[in-house]
Amino acid sequence: MGGIAGLRRFVQDMTKLVGTSAGDEEAIRHEGGAMLSKLVSADDWLPDAFAQPGPASYRQYLLWCDPLERFSVVSFVWGPGQTTPVHDHTVWGLVGMLRGAENGVGYESRGIGKPMAITTNETLTPGAVCAVSPAIGDIHTVSNALMDRVSISIHVYGANIGAVARHTYNARTGRPKDFVSGYSNDAVPNLFDRSEETRQALKTASK
Ligand SMILES: [Fe+2]
Repeated sequence: MGGIAGLRRFVQDMTKLVGTSAGDEEAIRHEGGAMLSKLVSADDWLPDAFAQPGPASYRQYLLWCDPLERFSVVSFVWGPGQTTPVHDHTVWGLVGMLRGAENGVGYESRGIGKPMAITTNETLTPGAVCAVSPAIGDIHTVSNALMDRVSISIHVYGANIGAVARHTYNARTGRPKDFVSGYSNDAVPNLFDRSEETRQALKTASK
């Protein structure tokens, strides 16, 4: 079954995972990463409203926030060549590539006043997933690797990420600055209109 059902199933599976693995971040990253990889291996479910790029900067659309704010799911939409500042998350995060390609560069602080060190540099293609966290390296930039088209990645975080107090960094000086990302949308997609399934079941039962 394609369409929004894939995202609904992912949200249901993540809800179970954070319920059973509370406090075991490694298990959440590992099992959640496998779930996310499955979700982004098909590009047939993201509604167009949450796939629209911005003219000046990347967009971040909240797709789902757990009612207890234990995790959130966000579509990041990059116009050609768009990039984030150097930033952290302060919670675990998973990045799954849905469409196009993006480049992630990891940074590490060497202290205030010193240039930050680059620790990793990788390009994600559709179906690939990578993780960030204070436990494994939490500071990075993400950029659209393509100069001629939109790229989209699906991110999952261990909090209501748009409302988390975090930081951007000056890569030359290592100096942090307070940062609260927010979201680009006011309304989230409806994952739960299953009425057509019920109608079909009624039709089948009445035959
Ligand atoms: Fe990030």
